[in-house]
Amino acid sequence: MQALVIGSGYVGLVAAACFAEAGHRILGVDVDAAKVATLSRGESPIFEPGLEDLLRKHLSSGELRFTTDLKAGIAEADAAFICVGTPQSEDGSADMKYVLAVAGEIGEAMALRSKESKPLIVVDKSTVPVGTAARVHAEIATHTDRAFEVVSNPEFLREGCAIGDFMEPDRVVIGCRTDHAEVIMKALYQPFLDRSGGKWFRMDPPSAELTKYAANAMLALRISFINEIANLAEDVGADIEHVKAAIGADHRIGPAFLNPGPGFGGSCFPKDLQALLKVGREHGHPMMTLATTVEANRHQKQVLLRKVRQYFEVKSGVPAPLRGRRFAIWGLAFKANTDDIRESMALELIEGLVNLGAEVVVHDFAAMDAVKAKIGNKVRYATTPLAACEGADALLIATEWTQYRQADLEAVAGALKARCIFDGRNLFRPEDMEAKGWTYHSLGRRAVGPS
Ligand SMILES: NC(=O)c1ccc[n+]([C@@H]2O[C@H](COP(=O)([O-])OP(=O)(O)OC[C@H]3O[C@@H](n4cnc5c(N)ncnc54)[C@H](O)[C@@H]3O)[C@@H](O)[C@H]2O)c1
Repeated sequence: MQALVIGSGYVGLVAAACFAEAGHRILGVDVDAAKVATLSRGESPIFEPGLEDLLRKHLSSGELRFTTDLKAGIAEADAAFICVGTPQSEDGSADMKYVLAVAGEIGEAMALRSKESKPLIVVDKSTVPVGTAARVHAEIATHTDRAFEVVSNPEFLREGCAIGDFMEPDRVVIGCRTDHAEVIMKALYQPFLDRSGGKWFRMDPPSAELTKYAANAMLALRISFINEIANLAEDVGADIEHVKAAIGADHRIGPAFLNPGPGFGGSCFPKDLQALLKVGREHGHPMMTLATTVEANRHQKQVLLRKVRQYFEVKSGVPAPLRGRRFAIWGLAFKANTDDIRESMALELIEGLVNLGAEVVVHDFAAMDAVKAKIGNKVRYATTPLAACEGADALLIATEWTQYRQADLEAVAGALKARCIFDGRNLFRPEDMEAKGWTYHSLGRRAVGPS
């Protein structure tokens, strides 16, 4: 198969590299000329394990190329994937301007296809509201009389393990109206389904579009739910680790997505929930569970700051207890194994601490450049986790990088002013920390050490 993948961000780049790995001939397109130059040199502009190896392999094999001009591959393409951003608009809805701009460009470029060509399969892979396939169809149709069909193919990959998710999918969802579209899409995905034994779901485009939002909403709901149970566990003397293991053993519930954390962030859940809320309001179906999920998450994103304030307020008894104190923060990305800081809880934590007059020193294994570009010298940047702790009053853990879990805590204790950790990811066991004389506050478990 030959395909255009338009938009070379987290989704487009992974899709392009994986389709090339499956033996398809792929042209990756992006408006950002600097990004295209970087990619053409075989360098990945994003941190995603395994991605750069695939890029290099298939730039060499010739199966993968990058360009700023989608016209370069439209004549021969079987499919054109739209993978551009759908950020949140001011009113909460998904901003469709990039998707519709690409639709317009595809429409104009269609003149390069011969009248005899099979219909081009235009694939909405961006996360888009119900009805978008029809809008994209209408936009393309204003520019061309060549044959095409618009298909919805939502993407479920997770940053940090995106290559594995794409190449071994649980399921592939296709919203299409014709067998021709299904044949093309199946040919593109069959190598992955063969590997994973994943399920193939053919449905109509609106159902496919709604499936993506419903999946993200369900996952977000689970996170907010377990966070609320964890917060309650602390107050009633329960341990969330016991509770989550026992409820997760119920096959109707399952163990995934039951880890308490400092609130969800990233480029998808926050904006996708707002978009679904907006769609619900527009159709007279206010999504009440979703509204509560969002509200609970807003509260949860303050959880570490609340714990730090409470601890130092009680301890010092002074009105501005954080002024002049120094805090180390481990982790800036919204989760481990990515450099993505969109809606990261660490950014809110930094903001809160700095506003209260504290000094902040940060470390992350992949996201330091992104944070530097966003907030500059508001904080200091440490080159190692240990260096971040030097002279700090406490260590705050915001991202669950494995290396933090494996850190030499005695060395950390030597660098900090006091043995004090606020852990938003439950990386350590309270019993172990207590035995080693730490003050240790985590989520949904008893705090240990002097209060
Ligand atoms: N990031 C994820 O984990 C993830 C997972 C599933 C679905 N999604 C959805 O996929 C879509 C893309 O997300 P992302 O994180 O890859 O976005 P991104 O911001 O990382 O990348 C978008 C890319 O599109 C390019 N672009 C914009 N306009 C263009 C145009 N006219 N022609 C060519 N390129 C253009 C941008 O330069 C950028 O490189 C969104 O709708 C998102 O919700 C994302």
